[in-house]
Amino acid sequence: MPESVTVVVGTQWGDEGKGKLVDLLSSDADLCMRFQGGGNAGHTVVNDAGDFKLHQVPCGIFNPACTCMMGTGTVVDPQDLAAEMEQLAQQGVAVDKMYVSDRAHVVMPYHKLLDQVEDQARGAFRVDTTGRGIGPAYTDKVGRIGIRFHDLLYEDVLREKLAVVLQRHNAVLTTVYGKQPFDEQQLLADYLAWGERFRSRIIDTIPLVRAALQEGKNIILEGQLSAMKDIDWGSYPFVTSSSPTAAGAAAGSGIPPRRIDRIIGVAKAYSSQVGTGPMPTELQGAAGDHLRQLGGEYGATTGRPRRVGWFDAVVTRFVVDLNGCTALSITKLDVLDTLPEIPVCTAYKYKGEVLPDLPDPMLHEQCEPVYEILPGWQQSTREARSLQDLPAKARAYLERLAELTGTAIHSVGIGPHRDQTIVL
Ligand code: GTP
Repeated sequence: MPESVTVVVGTQWGDEGKGKLVDLLSSDADLCMRFQGGGNAGHTVVNDAGDFKLHQVPCGIFNPACTCMMGTGTVVDPQDLAAEMEQLAQQGVAVDKMYVSDRAHVVMPYHKLLDQVEDQARGAFRVDTTGRGIGPAYTDKVGRIGIRFHDLLYEDVLREKLAVVLQRHNAVLTTVYGKQPFDEQQLLADYLAWGERFRSRIIDTIPLVRAALQEGKNIILEGQLSAMKDIDWGSYPFVTSSSPTAAGAAAGSGIPPRRIDRIIGVAKAYSSQVGTGPMPTELQGAAGDHLRQLGGEYGATTGRPRRVGWFDAVVTRFVVDLNGCTALSITKLDVLDTLPEIPVCTAYKYKGEVLPDLPDPMLHEQCEPVYEILPGWQQSTREARSLQDLPAKARAYLERLAELTGTAIHSVGIGPHRDQTIVL
């Protein structure tokens, strides 16, 4: 029987190209669901329908037969979601099968303001968030004062919940941060209106997921970021507020862990990271600028230049083990096409000693990478359509990454277009 449930997760610090893989895998999927995060995702898809940057809409949207869902573990900004769906519709993409879990949390305007002022207040431990309100929305969820999509459909419930949450946030915003308070009546009116607008798209996911599993439908669970940004396992505190792991996929989608058949970890052929946090293989100065330019490493959500560096096998091995990845998808191999030599980090040294595993983030920052230098292939890989089409040195590079991370390779990206993917 073919795999029914596939999870796609990042294995570095995010931006590995998960969007492109999910778009490809969704071409024959029945259901594509985001299970964590929200509008802080920046999934780039380039296919025959055009060039797209998706923030909340799952990358399965390009298959008109695929139902797309912001799952229960996500936090969703209805205003941004409406704008994104409108934009897609204008570009000729059908959005009639887009739904939001009634248990997903609503990102409210006060979350966005809190996101900005609280990150500044973190000083040396600031995260450089996207400012889209994701962290504060999850804080309210865990604090049990969050507003869920279901609440937008019931005026009495929303009124009561807003009174509680605004009492807290308005006090903090005005007294601690010197900001204007939010108007309760205005928010109530605005978000009842959003509830009305999304009424037919706000659904209980349980019956749909149960039926899909029973019928062996093809389900893709689309992760955002990576375990290195996981609230428990990432470089805390330089992390996101959810769990971008296969375990998080089960929890955030309502699919039992034992029903997951396949976990594909996505890794760039080198590294990049947005925002703060340890990154031992980071390249500074001209070397960093060169790789950044080759890879076009500027954030899809914020436009910020990404930090770049060599492939870090310690990090990807850790993430592969944590997720139980069944295979790796290596993306952006073509970015390395012109380089004469390509260093790969195989271990770390801390105070002269070689470390076998990933250390605590505070020590991780001080680790020195141990490099193995692999020869570059110095020819274009962009036209390759099978593994045999790749130069021998490029194949050797991939084989070494598979060996170092202890996992098989599912596919290789050799350009941004959906078709520029070699599936092994
Ligand atoms: P997050 O969930 O926000 O972490 O994003 P993501 O993992 O979907 O990745 P994102 O779209 O932000 O970044 C990947 C970038 O690389 C996009 O600009 C893609 O178009 C591009 N890309 C993906 N695969 C390839 C590839 O194989 N080669 C090249 N040259 N570009 C690629």
